Amino acid sequence: MTALSETMQHDHARCDALFVNAEAAAEGGDWVACERGVAKFRQALLAHFAIEEDVIFPSFEAHTGMTEGPTRVMRGEHAQMRALADVLMQAAEGKDAEAFADAAETLLILMQQHNMKEENILYPMCDQALRDDAQVCASVAEFGGGLAMSDRGPPTVVVDACAMMPPEPMERTLEGLDQLGPGDTLLLIIPRQPAPLFDVLLNNGYSYSVATRDDGIHEITIWQDSSA
Ligand SMILES: [Fe+2]
Ligand SMILES: [Fe+2]
Repeated sequence: MTALSETMQHDHARCDALFVNAEAAAEGGDWVACERGVAKFRQALLAHFAIEEDVIFPSFEAHTGMTEGPTRVMRGEHAQMRALADVLMQAAEGKDAEAFADAAETLLILMQQHNMKEENILYPMCDQALRDDAQVCASVAEFGGGLAMSDRGPPTVVVDACAMMPPEPMERTLEGLDQLGPGDTLLLIIPRQPAPLFDVLLNNGYSYSVATRDDGIHEITIWQDSSA
């Protein structure tokens, strides 16, 4: 799968971008857009904290026995940032430019420091400790899948492999990947997770994320890895 650190780092950047949008709306005095922007930012931030606190941190603690270390510090910082996001929301609702600017400044500094600690220290430790934990890998991939779908717009190529027999899904996917340019995505819809395909993708400069629908079918979003 795409490394945990890559998915989570990508989500930090997404939250940062939503924050910048809300802040720009406040600076421009557009309180309707600001309120909407803060709501989107807050929702993304809370979802990010939720996967860290409910999935990644408990597994890291269980695998390493480190319950009083970095995850404890991160949880404390999450609480501070949640409170500040609430203040930001109230300031936007009250059209209070001064209160908004104060909360935004504090939150931005906290967020930057927090993200740097996670990206430089905790996520690499998690990559190491959790890479063989299939359940965590699946949850993070599913989280990343939701982000990939919401960030990237509709897929460029769709391969619906539900009625195909091997090796057709692999063949059709590889054909489809040849059509992708930078920023394009291929959506593979398939009943079983195609482990051999994942190896091919990672060895050929592609990233992917997996989302599992309620009916058990997997939706695998694939794109060219810009860092490859
Ligand atoms: Fe965090
Ligand atoms: Fe984080």
